[in-house]
Amino acid sequence: MIVTDTLNIKTTKIGQSKLANVDFQNLPFGKVFTDHMFVADYEDGEWKNFELMPYGPIPMSPAISALHYGQAIFEGMKAYKLKSGEISIFRADKNFKRFNISAERMAMPTIPEEIFMKGITSLINLDKAWVPEGDNYSLYIRPVMFATDDKLGVKASSNYKFVVLTNPSGPYYSQPLKVKIETHYTRADEGGVGYAKTAGNYGRSLYAFSQAQKEGFDQIIWTDSKEHSYVEESGTANLMFVINNVLVTPSLGGTILDGVTRDTVLQVAKSLDIPTEERKVPIKEVISKIQSGELTEAFAVGTAATITQIGIIGYENDLFTLTDPTTRVISHKIHKVLDDIRYGRSEDVFGWNT
Ligand code: COI
Repeated sequence: MIVTDTLNIKTTKIGQSKLANVDFQNLPFGKVFTDHMFVADYEDGEWKNFELMPYGPIPMSPAISALHYGQAIFEGMKAYKLKSGEISIFRADKNFKRFNISAERMAMPTIPEEIFMKGITSLINLDKAWVPEGDNYSLYIRPVMFATDDKLGVKASSNYKFVVLTNPSGPYYSQPLKVKIETHYTRADEGGVGYAKTAGNYGRSLYAFSQAQKEGFDQIIWTDSKEHSYVEESGTANLMFVINNVLVTPSLGGTILDGVTRDTVLQVAKSLDIPTEERKVPIKEVISKIQSGELTEAFAVGTAATITQIGIIGYENDLFTLTDPTTRVISHKIHKVLDDIRYGRSEDVFGWNT
């Protein structure tokens, strides 16, 4: 995809870049922000005030409805430094579509593709020196939209802000995960907003996550809200298994996020003739196939997580240790194909790089 320059964006550059102060060998996820951000406003039924400005606080009323009633959505995307030296954003069109699906579900205005894409690409062009090099390194892109009406009545806001932030980032997880199958708390319910990337889905997960951490787990495997019998997602990522050499992942429905990496991994698997299944995955099956040795791989897939191996699964009072993550064949094979495309080491046969 090529993005043309047609928006009239006001640009205010930072006086002194912060780049020289950044330790690129030690980049924790999401903590270091580049010099600039992109901001736009939705007012009087239209998007306006497109601006690139130094990253920093935005003055706002404490009454904005995003704070009180949670009208806030976001995306997670990544830009990579290609082998050729060019910079590419991975599958931006898919994140754009999902952003507007989330907007509609949260009664927020959709954003035209030109504003979404030009906001991101103009910010990256301005801060291109910040895109890190090397495997596992990328520029994490965080578009966010939130309601800015300063009224306390509960209704969809009339005004919104769209902001794009960028972080040079290393891996989200540094080692295979120990995860707990959660059968009490729920991430998403039928008829709810589980498929939307809205702030509240993450807020509501934090208590269960902190409880699991106290029990020594790194993350949670979420289960369905009705029976807590089927696995759904892993932490903030989608969940995949290899069972009898078939790549198995919970099917999408109203409660599961349509992950870009989930779709990417499924497409790469199909191109490698690896059989795939998208279906309901009972907890009982996961446990019994671990015990029988038929479940050979388990991993989380997401933009931030990429492909993160799961080493241990806790269920009720038992811990199940899976195969050695370094010896897994299918997820490593898919990961390599994916990295080769993302870092421009092989032809982008799927047309995923912008
Ligand atoms: C992502 O994978 O981009 C996410 O949104 C996960 C998390 C960092 C919120």
